[in-house]
Amino acid sequence: MNRFNALLFSLLLSLAAPPGFSQATTEALADEGERLAALLRVGRRVVSNNQTLINDPDRGDKGLDSAAFLAKVDAAYRAQHGQGPLDGDLSDTQRRLTEAQLAAMATVLDENQELINSEGLGFKGFIPAIFGRLVNEQFAEQVGSEARLKVTAPMHLVRNRKARPDDWEAGVFNGQFSQPDWPRSQAFFETVATGEGEMFRMLIPEYYGETCLTCHGGPKGEVDVTGFPKEGAAAGDLAGAISITLKRE
Ligand code: HEC
Repeated sequence: MNRFNALLFSLLLSLAAPPGFSQATTEALADEGERLAALLRVGRRVVSNNQTLINDPDRGDKGLDSAAFLAKVDAAYRAQHGQGPLDGDLSDTQRRLTEAQLAAMATVLDENQELINSEGLGFKGFIPAIFGRLVNEQFAEQVGSEARLKVTAPMHLVRNRKARPDDWEAGVFNGQFSQPDWPRSQAFFETVATGEGEMFRMLIPEYYGETCLTCHGGPKGEVDVTGFPKEGAAAGDLAGAISITLKRE
């Protein structure tokens, strides 16, 4: 092949490449999984940082509409990662998925304005876990089977049936994450063949901190503010995992 033909050939190849992760290495997919998890975590943290405001029964308008919320997400992301979620050298796919995640957060804030701004109501159930689940559901509506995020947990810790682990997730909880020498916070990932094609699957473990224990701590069985029986967990215990699925082909 002469140089011109080689150029033409690579041009045609790039034109023929479908959107998505078909050409991506496992390392790039794991990076993308970490990116998606990082933005979800920042969103949950912004809810957490504004929980007292959200729960304030004496204040109507909380000034926390979708634009204000996204500005806080952007600031928190910058503080932690040194740049905004859409900054840097992103691939088209990365940009599209991050934009979808941000749009999902905006939709969840828009849809819950009435609840958040209701006066006379203290605890409203708008907490990080529920926010996260709603955002992941919105995200799925936007991106379809290309990418999926879910917060799941070992079966005995599951509160919402939607968070139940599937066979692969349960296998990692009972296998890798149960090994005493599994490094703390280390994700597990692999490519899995499914009926829908090859999927990159990743599970990033999450642990309870002190602030989680008002709901997930002890005494076990006592009903928490959200109406669920507490799990009796201790700080540092495995709480669950962020599960990411990316379509490979
Ligand atoms: C105000 C009470 C409360 C606090 C504080 C809280 N959670 Fe939860 N958590 C819940 C509720 C309620 C759900 C179920 C949400 C749903 O319906 O999707 C939940 C769900 C979860 C889930 C998903 C699996 C499941 O059980 O359905 C994980 C994982 C989790 N919480 C971890 C944490 C961690 C880690 C913290 C601290 C950083 C925390 N939670 C703090 C109430 C709380």
